[in-house]
Amino acid sequence: MTNFKEVIERKGTRSVKWDFADKLFKNEDILPMWVADMDFQVPDAVTTALQNRVSHGIFGYTLPDEDVKNTITSWVKNHYDYEIEKDWIFYSPGVVPSLHMLVQALSEIGDNVLIQTPVYPPFYSVIKNHGRHIIKNELTFDGERYDIDFEDFEQKIKDNNVTLFILCSPHNPVGRVWTEDELKKMADICLKYDVTILSDEIHADLVLGNNKHFSIASLSEDIDDATVTCYSPTKTFNLAGLQASYVVAKDKDKRKRLERQFHGQGINMLNTLGLTALEAAYKDGEQWLIDLREILAENVAYVRDRLHKETDTIKVIEPEGTYLLWLDCRKLGLEHEELKTFMQNEAKVGMNDGASFGEEGKGFMRMNIAAPKETIEAGVERLIQAVNKREA
Ligand SMILES: Cc1ncc(COP(=O)(O)O)c(C=O)c1O
Repeated sequence: MTNFKEVIERKGTRSVKWDFADKLFKNEDILPMWVADMDFQVPDAVTTALQNRVSHGIFGYTLPDEDVKNTITSWVKNHYDYEIEKDWIFYSPGVVPSLHMLVQALSEIGDNVLIQTPVYPPFYSVIKNHGRHIIKNELTFDGERYDIDFEDFEQKIKDNNVTLFILCSPHNPVGRVWTEDELKKMADICLKYDVTILSDEIHADLVLGNNKHFSIASLSEDIDDATVTCYSPTKTFNLAGLQASYVVAKDKDKRKRLERQFHGQGINMLNTLGLTALEAAYKDGEQWLIDLREILAENVAYVRDRLHKETDTIKVIEPEGTYLLWLDCRKLGLEHEELKTFMQNEAKVGMNDGASFGEEGKGFMRMNIAAPKETIEAGVERLIQAVNKREA
């Protein structure tokens, strides 16, 4: 059984989070709480399946067969209440590569593409890199919670003739799990103006407490036709290095476009070990995921309670999903560059820079809490010490 309490040395594994942190944060004593992977081992069933596959010793070309397709359709049905057919599925090494391909497949050069900011940084590059333009529907923030400005959402689409909307659901970095009602409202506006919805649902399984994730495509036949969804087991089960994900598209015309884009770029397979891990995780990872969610909820509560009790200046935005905590550090009174320097040199906690998610993220930092309690405690302690020293 996975021991979520055990601290496992990741340095020396070429881990982006641990082995490349010193360079990024220019500090050898940094505690990495940044890039979105977890410091937990995967479900035992996944390790065993990988070991069995590795011991075969031959790693030629592999393709998902009917069994794998059935495993995927069952997961999507059971977890997102979304009935999909096997030939709606496309395979890809990752959601980011998919977003790049999908922007090209579903819009034209020069088109305007809507995103809700602050948002996961590649949302900007997948638009800009392919000659499309970014249109922002900024999320509103009342100091506690982020919401959607629907009026602005519709106006931006109308005024800019937007053709594609990239939805982050659940939302990284603000931690919102969009409600059925919010999703329906966004979808209705998209349908009204004939906007294609590209829904990145990589965090779909990582919902906290009583929050429920809805796949936007599942809400009606019409919305399903207007939507292409990206899913992946890699965030859920900590498999990012194995690179395996999939895209679901119901509408025939969209599937034709995807076919041309994916196959045209030689992408139609899954990495052998990624495929093995995906199948094992989806078949036998359920209990592990239930346990993980509890640990994440405990970590959120721990960080929030301690920071709010022991500092007046860092506010945790309560997440409904994801293992990424959005910290409002504006009360520290630092310019954004000063805040970054303070976090890396004084607190020595390696977090994602809020401004990398967009202008709206200035004064914020993103903390990854998918780690054993001991690591979380050490990170929070460092933060509190640094803040209190500064304010003394
Ligand atoms: C919203 C979102 N999409 C995509 C990714 C990365 O996907 P992949 O590793 O499959 O490219 C992340 C990782 O943090 C993410 O938060």
